[in-house]
Amino acid sequence: MMRQPFMLVCRGVACAALAVMVLAFGVVSTLGEEFEPQVGQPGKDVVWVPTPDALVERMLRMAQVTPEDYVVDLGSGDGKIVIAAVRDFNARALGIEYNPEMVALAQRNAKQAGVEERARFIQGDIFEEDFSSATVVTMYLLPGLNLRLRETLLQMKPGTRVVSHAFDMSEWEPDESVTVEGRSAYLWIVPANAGGVWRLSLPLGQEIVTATMSIRQQFQEFAGTISLQGTEVALQETRLVGARIEFVIIEAGGEQRRFIGSVDGDLMRGAVSGPDGRTAEFRAERVGVAPAIFDAAAPDF
Ligand SMILES: C[S@@+](CC[C@H](N)C(=O)[O-])C[C@H]1O[C@@H](n2cnc3c(N)ncnc32)[C@H](O)[C@@H]1O
Repeated sequence: MMRQPFMLVCRGVACAALAVMVLAFGVVSTLGEEFEPQVGQPGKDVVWVPTPDALVERMLRMAQVTPEDYVVDLGSGDGKIVIAAVRDFNARALGIEYNPEMVALAQRNAKQAGVEERARFIQGDIFEEDFSSATVVTMYLLPGLNLRLRETLLQMKPGTRVVSHAFDMSEWEPDESVTVEGRSAYLWIVPANAGGVWRLSLPLGQEIVTATMSIRQQFQEFAGTISLQGTEVALQETRLVGARIEFVIIEAGGEQRRFIGSVDGDLMRGAVSGPDGRTAEFRAERVGVAPAIFDAAAPDF
């Protein structure tokens, strides 16, 4: 028997009811259209549990998201972090989610929120997709998954902000943490690699002198020395936030010099201020290769 076209088999009240359903649900059945997510449903590496709204907002505020940011949520679920980043902070954002039905749901949610132009979702595995252009990474995963991602995160551009709901990064201490309604979130700022040996040029009196600076680094913490005119002095008050680096040295005569600069690959430069308050430029070039940002075998500072 030949199939009757829809218009011929649909009559009277039944036809009207069907028409209403078509309008109400957009019966054009695209992937996941009627999919109802269940809290705790299995995911590839972790189940789906949404981050509460208040914490989403706090996480994005802690990361200081601005319209210049590109926020990537790893395992984006129903899309709420991505949508909030666009809707409330005017950023661009991407969600990477393994479950295609959740991707379709997030896309519908973004459309409903009117942010679909700047909120994108892709189906993919967070361990395979390239998210290196993100300026902010958010996640709500598991401790083991955070650790699997740690090396990739540390390779991102210095200054990239990483925010995790609930789970930390083991030895990589957070730069900040918050608790909202009993739930915690952590912020890390990807540090530049400042480790290794540097040839440092700095003004001393009327001269520019060259010194050797050695730095040991563990994530955003570092310690080191400068060998200056035959004396070795320790770096003090060390601070590394993204690419910005600061330290102080006290010279043999008790004079203090404060260095504030930035690390850009194998180059460090900035300003050094002396005891008289005057500032001058300093510059350093790394000698040899940069060591790893974290060495599990290295002693603590
Ligand atoms: C705990 S939920 C968090 C959802 C969302 N980020 C939030 O905070 O509301 C984790 C999400 O990661 C997804 N997921 C699990 N393993 C994944 C993988 N390898 N790649 C991409 N997504 C994954 C799950 O399907 C789930 O939606």
